[in-house]
Amino acid sequence: MTADDTRDCSSERGAWRALVEKTVARIREIESGGPLTRDMLQRIRAELLTLSKHPECFSDEEFPPPEDGQGDRLYCLSLDDGDRRALYLNKGGANKNTPPHDHTTWAVVIGIVGEEHNRFYEREDDGREPGRARLRVAGEFTVEPGTGVCLMPDDIHSIHMDGPDIKTMIHMYGRSLPSLTERVQYDLATGEFRVFPAHPNITMMA
Ligand SMILES: [Fe+2]
Repeated sequence: MTADDTRDCSSERGAWRALVEKTVARIREIESGGPLTRDMLQRIRAELLTLSKHPECFSDEEFPPPEDGQGDRLYCLSLDDGDRRALYLNKGGANKNTPPHDHTTWAVVIGIVGEEHNRFYEREDDGREPGRARLRVAGEFTVEPGTGVCLMPDDIHSIHMDGPDIKTMIHMYGRSLPSLTERVQYDLATGEFRVFPAHPNITMMA
């Protein structure tokens, strides 16, 4: 991290842009270094953790949370050509629980404010029955400020955010959320899985 990276940007609206640009430039370099690996994602996570050390850049004045305190507000901070390398700021997550799901591209989630509990799953079945899967919990991790998780395209996780407080997270994906039309989510009760709609409501800041 350079001295410039540690500058407080609270006084300037839009000062996050320079930090985000630098972060994404480093991530482009990492990602162009060869085929996608978990090690590569860990290096991307390190860059995003550096960005997350500037919560003052992501104030509620510049990035308001959901007005009624429910659901999420998602801000796209950077998007490369071809709907690639999408960096989002997510505010919300009051009492949020998602079913297990995949991403069909790489994903890195970093905490800025609050906690996001992740459960990771493995498929126990042989994949031969269409639309059905048997999952088992293979690990858990709570994302909090200064930590993050990396997910390969086929990795399956669910997220669980307790309490009414607004959480702030950075999410980065190999492709933009609206372009991810083949993601599936799993119903643990019935053992079925199905494609779910792409995220509809994103505020573009890029
Ligand atoms: Fe996810």
